[in-house]
Amino acid sequence: MLNQQDNELMCRTGAGTPMGAAMRRFWLPVAQLADLPEPGGEPKALEVLGEKFIAWRDDKGRPGLYAEHCLHRGASMQLARAEGDGLRCIYHGWKFAVDGQVLETPNVADPKFKERIRGRTYPVREAGGLLWAYLGPKGQEPAFPKWPFMEQDDAHRINAVAVANCNYVQVVEGLVDSSHLTVLHASGLAKTNGVDLDFAKKTTHMQFDASPAIEADETDFGFHYVAMRPSGVGRMARIASFIAPCFVANPNGDLWFAVVPVNDERCNFYHVWWNPEKAIGVEPLRGQQLAFVGLDEPTLAKYGMTAATCDSEAAMDWRNGYRQDRAQQRAGHFTGFDSFTQEDAACSVSSGALRDRSQEMLSTADIAISRLYRSLLACARAARDGQAIPALDAEVGRAVGTFGEIGPDQDWRTLVPHHKIVSGPARQQVN
Ligand code: FES
Ligand SMILES: [Fe+2]
Repeated sequence: MLNQQDNELMCRTGAGTPMGAAMRRFWLPVAQLADLPEPGGEPKALEVLGEKFIAWRDDKGRPGLYAEHCLHRGASMQLARAEGDGLRCIYHGWKFAVDGQVLETPNVADPKFKERIRGRTYPVREAGGLLWAYLGPKGQEPAFPKWPFMEQDDAHRINAVAVANCNYVQVVEGLVDSSHLTVLHASGLAKTNGVDLDFAKKTTHMQFDASPAIEADETDFGFHYVAMRPSGVGRMARIASFIAPCFVANPNGDLWFAVVPVNDERCNFYHVWWNPEKAIGVEPLRGQQLAFVGLDEPTLAKYGMTAATCDSEAAMDWRNGYRQDRAQQRAGHFTGFDSFTQEDAACSVSSGALRDRSQEMLSTADIAISRLYRSLLACARAARDGQAIPALDAEVGRAVGTFGEIGPDQDWRTLVPHHKIVSGPARQQVN
């Protein structure tokens, strides 16, 4: 449970908010590389943390992220002309390179003028199929993160993004909540039996135990979280890592998420799978994986979960019953949604655009939820009070998800010996 004040502190990420200031100190994914324009193509509008940006590639293929409003007198750079080595504002023709260099100011006679000013652009990097940006104060960007999937080429990696019409925290909650799997995804898990997809094989055992034992430890990067279910003579332990401010390494070990606020009531939910041995990024494996979890384009569009459809009639909302298919449910499906992604989204979105946490009733199944609140609030408070942001300097590449069988008396932490534990176990702590 959180009072209204803490809830707002945790959830609001617009310019000038404490959590927004914290988030802007990290490198964040702002788009999939596949969704960026071609070199020299038309500029593309993006919204991140409640601010508008323009993404573009110049004729050499270099990516750039521009603030929406032109440096001169604020016309939108979404209107700008793509002209080889820069974007030209259509109002007075000022032209800006992707690194902010001002190339031309045709309405100013002084040729030196342009050398004294700098366009509004942000540092960007391309890695792991994503465009990353640093949106914080100039010159204070942290080391660029080294996530394991960044070493994989496109053939060995799958990128996918879903748009969820709710606050980012609600989506992250679903990622550190093992006990919903057996219930919400019961029909999907039942379908994993015998399916020859790695994802299916790694999750099929979960259909047999709805109340796993759950523990969480605070770490230098955020926290790790274990769900343990009986297995043979011992237990199957599934360990997820939450990495502040919005990343999760799934226990499957080959799946990573970023949940990046578009604004306070919408987020981009990035997924990355990787496999050094198998060409999962190539058809048919890529398409099979995406369809299995409901991240294929037609299914996302059907529920209004793409950038092009999230404001359309297709989007899940109260008036259309969140697009639940009651006929499918009557025919035996537990929820009446097409797949995992839609089931998760329906629960996150239907709890409110920005969920009220003053009325919730957390239980022992929700240890990681309260740990998540504490982790996020620590970031927001640190930014508000001018303190060092927790996790900003953590070596995030060490934060992995994993699973394994442990003996009856074996500590699950032996599966993640490299994790630096900051505080003790949170077994009893619910809130
Ligand atoms: S507003 Fe862009 S050049 Fe004047
Ligand atoms: Fe889920």
